[in-house]
Amino acid sequence: MDIEVVDLNEILPKSLIREKIPIPNIPEIEIIRHFVKLSQHNYGVDTGIYPLGSCTMKYNPKINEVVERLKGFSQVHPLQEENHGSIELLYGISKLLGEITGMDGFSLQPAAGAHGELAGLLIIKKFFESKGIQKHKIIVPDSAHGTNPASAKMAGFSIIELKSNKFGEVPLDHLEYAMADGDVAGIMLTNPNTLGIFDRQIKKITKIVHENGGLCYYDGANLNPILGICRPGDMGFDIVHLNLHKTFSTPHGGGGPGSGPLGVIDELVPYLPGPCIISTENGLACQENNDNSIGRIKAFWGNFGIIVRAYAYILALGAEGLKRVGQISVLNANYLRVLLKDNYFLPYKRTCQHEFVITDRNLPNNITTEDVAKRMLDYGIYAPTVYFPLVVQGALMIEPTETESKASLDHFIEVMDKIYYEAESDPNTLKTSPHNTPIKRLDAVLAARKPVLHD
Ligand SMILES: Cc1ncc(COP(=O)(O)O)c(C=O)c1O
Repeated sequence: MDIEVVDLNEILPKSLIREKIPIPNIPEIEIIRHFVKLSQHNYGVDTGIYPLGSCTMKYNPKINEVVERLKGFSQVHPLQEENHGSIELLYGISKLLGEITGMDGFSLQPAAGAHGELAGLLIIKKFFESKGIQKHKIIVPDSAHGTNPASAKMAGFSIIELKSNKFGEVPLDHLEYAMADGDVAGIMLTNPNTLGIFDRQIKKITKIVHENGGLCYYDGANLNPILGICRPGDMGFDIVHLNLHKTFSTPHGGGGPGSGPLGVIDELVPYLPGPCIISTENGLACQENNDNSIGRIKAFWGNFGIIVRAYAYILALGAEGLKRVGQISVLNANYLRVLLKDNYFLPYKRTCQHEFVITDRNLPNNITTEDVAKRMLDYGIYAPTVYFPLVVQGALMIEPTETESKASLDHFIEVMDKIYYEAESDPNTLKTSPHNTPIKRLDAVLAARKPVLHD
């Protein structure tokens, strides 16, 4: 390859060229201490419990990192022709995800859950268009994650919001009424939903949608508790996205990288984004696109490194291990739910799945969810998701995941109880918390509107 050498001084504007670079003259140990101190300000799942509801912040096994860094995976170029190992891996995980969810085909292209949602909604749109049917609306229950209506809107649909009933489930009569409109392309649902509640009527829900000519989209971000127990395909769903960066233990937080594979039933396979890997008589082959595909949604093969980690996780656990993940995540959440419900208000009094919601409703001295969350930081614990889902006022949404030990769960309960008693005896300490963190309580609105990003 010919390489042309250019003189940067000639092509860069003078204003961008610095005469002197101000590198400070600091001893190595000072630098090391500075960065180690900074790293200690960080909180992660390797530091302690990270009970962010709806985010499944489970432990990321280090063996996944070892596997992903194997030269054959980490040094491979996406355009490299001799790439059979990677292609086989992508094909292998697609098949496993199909088995786990009950779907017939998978695309590994989407880079996040929301990206999978958008691709799925584009498929729904194209499916109806290709049949010459006009449908413009999507039903989304009010307990859905905010990305659901946003993705539907981006795909060009308008949203019908369905209010949950007193059990936190979809009201069948309202669903039937909404579907009778004739302009509804389908429903987006996560089950268990963001209240941690499994909708017991799920088969009736998907039946109603299908009988009225709609498709059923499963937001699989909450797949963790049903792993190995039941499958979206068997519940009657047609499209599913997964969050490998949640259920399948790949690292996330701080915005990525993620991976949101998209699975579909047979009838929708031709609409999947390209490229797809297919099995032929001559072995695996890459099919760039076919006529009905929604086209490309990401460069190359998706977030390959994340996919490798998830594959390692699935193979390491096997079917029995994945089932145990589901069972223990539900057990852990219910353990916390039962032991916290005396001091904190529990709006939905039933067995939860992987997460549950409590609120600040009964806290003394006007102590709010925000006060509790900030005080938790003082005790060295990451706060749960707050003020979400929106259907519950003052929500604290707790998801411990299966990777927390009983000791860790007991410590969490101990801190929450301590905070409750402080709310009675010393509310001012809570109102002004956190006290032990490098940054004290911020004006959240001001911080968002006028961020100060440096000293
Ligand atoms: C239920 C649910 N759906 C969808 C998403 C979107 O996933 P992502 O953040 O990967 O875009 C999330 C993320 O928290 C979620 O909890």
